[in-house]
Amino acid sequence: LQRDSRFAKLTEEHVNYFKDLLGKDSAVIDGVSQDATDDIEPFNSDWMRKFRGHTKLVLKPGSTEEVSKVLKYCNDNMLAVVPQGGNSGLVGGSVPVFDEIVINTARMNQIRSFDEASGIFVADAGVILETADSYLQERNHIFPLDLGAKGSCQIGGNVSTNAGGLRLLRYGSLHGNVLGIEAVLPDGTIVDDLSKLRKNNTGYDLKQLFIGAEGTIGIVTGISIICPQKPQAVNVAFFGVESYEKLQRAFRDAKGYLSEVLSAFELMDGSSQQVVNSVTGKKHPLEGEYPFYCLIETNGSNSEHDAAKLEAFLEHAMSEEIVADGVLAQDETQMRTLWSWREGITECLGHWGGVYKYDLSIPLSDLYQLVEDTRERLNSAGVIGDDPEKHPVVTVVGYGHMGDSNLHLNISTRRFDKEVEQLLEPFVYEWVAKRNGSISAEHGLGLTKKPFIGYSRSDTMIGLMKQIKNLYDPKGIMNPYKYI
Ligand code: FAD
Ligand code: MLT
Ligand code: ZN
Repeated sequence: LQRDSRFAKLTEEHVNYFKDLLGKDSAVIDGVSQDATDDIEPFNSDWMRKFRGHTKLVLKPGSTEEVSKVLKYCNDNMLAVVPQGGNSGLVGGSVPVFDEIVINTARMNQIRSFDEASGIFVADAGVILETADSYLQERNHIFPLDLGAKGSCQIGGNVSTNAGGLRLLRYGSLHGNVLGIEAVLPDGTIVDDLSKLRKNNTGYDLKQLFIGAEGTIGIVTGISIICPQKPQAVNVAFFGVESYEKLQRAFRDAKGYLSEVLSAFELMDGSSQQVVNSVTGKKHPLEGEYPFYCLIETNGSNSEHDAAKLEAFLEHAMSEEIVADGVLAQDETQMRTLWSWREGITECLGHWGGVYKYDLSIPLSDLYQLVEDTRERLNSAGVIGDDPEKHPVVTVVGYGHMGDSNLHLNISTRRFDKEVEQLLEPFVYEWVAKRNGSISAEHGLGLTKKPFIGYSRSDTMIGLMKQIKNLYDPKGIMNPYKYI
């Protein structure tokens, strides 16, 4: 990958323009001017520390108008930019590749309105997901998306990646819940589509293009989203399961017994639980060891009804030996503990150095087979083991949102290693394409998956995407070098 010479290099004059526009405190500058206000490194490297860019300028506009002026100036002067929210993305999309200017939305963090009757919430893109959710919880509602990075990711970043998360099975995708978007195009045009309407069939639904665009066509500055009421009754159960066949049965029967209250059905394999156990040193909630575990959550309106449903499911699952062992959380602390064995996997996997992450949609019946095939492939190549000299790979794990047929296949390594990478790619992508799956279920393509889009999209579709990109961003300044 080479720096595109069409893009201008940052000069003192550019920096002075931005400082005059935004004020000194809204820019983190390195090398170009004396008054560096902050450490620039965190903006240059991603959550996994896999990618490292070389920007010398991070801008933090405080309003949509400021974003508009910044982008117009960048577009006029051929300065490439990277939109950045909480920088929790997992595909290298949120950091520069070379010297692109980072436009960070952290200062755009105002909640604009909330209507308790309709549940419609309108806020700036830079509001942190957990802040939005806490605000809503105080008003008897919840944000319809929840994920492990909630304390740092921003709702604008969530929309830009079309994040899926832990309860998509119940509350649906952002393509359905987001009602409106305010965004700025590279030429400074403000697209005000901050609709609060549930239904609006007046031509193309252009806001959908920004949902999952990963910062390639404009910057999302505000969103309007429909939020469900806070469930009055929440239950969490955690089960050990003897086989993948039984796990599928557990899912099928959970849908039957729990139907409208089922809010999450998450898969964790035995290896993923060993990883959390060895990194945190915590005692696992279940005594025995199982090849599979699942976490089942219910969200309902009446605790007695929900408890009765869950008990009936439990009785059925235990007596039919669909699950081998299980535990039901008795209070909120226990719920959080059980969730930590699922949500903690991502962070623990990074413990040894690097992680190869694959976020895949696969038909349910085949979903876990990929983990087994990958494990076997790496085992035969002799790269998995305990000897740091000989074995780059620590372990191969599978977990994810089973309720959405979304597998996270992760290979935890001691170092990023060319041989391991060549064993995995394109093997994983070919495997998924053969089953008509998707090579990116919820994380996006960013930089990591860029070379592989063809495994999930036809040339015709990629061609149409390029036409849209050229229409919205004819000079190509928005998040260059990434997937499009
Ligand atoms: P960033 O990482 O800053 O950016 C992500 C992408 O969006 C980049 O391409 C960036 O250029 C673009 N972008 C950001 N803000 C804007 C904007 N305002 N306008 C235009 N483009 C923008 N993801 C899931 O889907 N499900 C999960 O369950 C999940 N769990 C996670 C758990 C952990 C522990 C971690 C670290 C990550 C997890 N993720 C998950 C991935 C990540 O958190 C999500 O992709 C999240 O939505 C990114 O939000 P962010 O604000 O951090 O965006
Ligand atoms: C998750 O479901 O935990 C996230 O998508 C993060 C990951 O894939 O590790
Ligand atoms: Zn996930």
